[in-house]
Amino acid sequence: MKYIIAPSILSADLARLGDDVKEVLDAGADVVHFDVMDNHYVPNLTFGPQICSALRKYGIEAPIDAHLMVTPVDDLIGSFADAGATSITFHPEASKHIDRSLQLIKSRGCKAGLALNPATPLNVLDYVWDKLDMVVIMSVNPGFGGQSFIPSALKKISALRAAAVKNGRDDLIIEVDGGVKPNNIGEIASAGANMFVAGSAIFGSDDYRKVISSMRSELEK
Ligand code: DX5
Ligand code: ZN
Repeated sequence: MKYIIAPSILSADLARLGDDVKEVLDAGADVVHFDVMDNHYVPNLTFGPQICSALRKYGIEAPIDAHLMVTPVDDLIGSFADAGATSITFHPEASKHIDRSLQLIKSRGCKAGLALNPATPLNVLDYVWDKLDMVVIMSVNPGFGGQSFIPSALKKISALRAAAVKNGRDDLIIEVDGGVKPNNIGEIASAGANMFVAGSAIFGSDDYRKVISSMRSELEK
């Protein structure tokens, strides 16, 4: 199984974002995780589509995974698709019409996903399996980097992997977001996840390559 490591730029050096993103990609990261917060759906404010297009203009070619923690979501879906996002995920609580928002993402040629907060049940996926490329299991409450991994996420990841298989979606990407570190990435993968967001663990280190390599070696065990 291919594992995807997606550093969250929430913890990057924002004053030199373009270079920091280039460095983390050179150090072996696969995808840029782009945390969009609106001080409404979550109590924090980050960056919008202009920053995403600025990264593209700066020469970042890697996939950009836009994690929308905003309400309403639909207008920003179009803007992020235009800005060069490759995948777009949103929280079901933040959209009045989940099926429509997913369709909108797909119609713009991006991978689509739902992001489930720690207390959000898996049954929100019941009628949209065919529209999901990925599901994000939030292992912290959204809004801030640097929080601790909530252990109940492991059980949820296993249940999600089983449900995906049962629904004929063996190809579903299970992305885990929050508190992922070299010392827990192995058990998160064993539970069934294959895409790992890490903000503080990677950008908080002075050697990105070393952290990413240690994550990969935990994944290979
Ligand atoms: C939280 C964000 C996460 C966060 C992860 O709302 O969605 O992507 O930045 O940061 P760490 O890895 O520091 O928990
Ligand atoms: Zn995120």
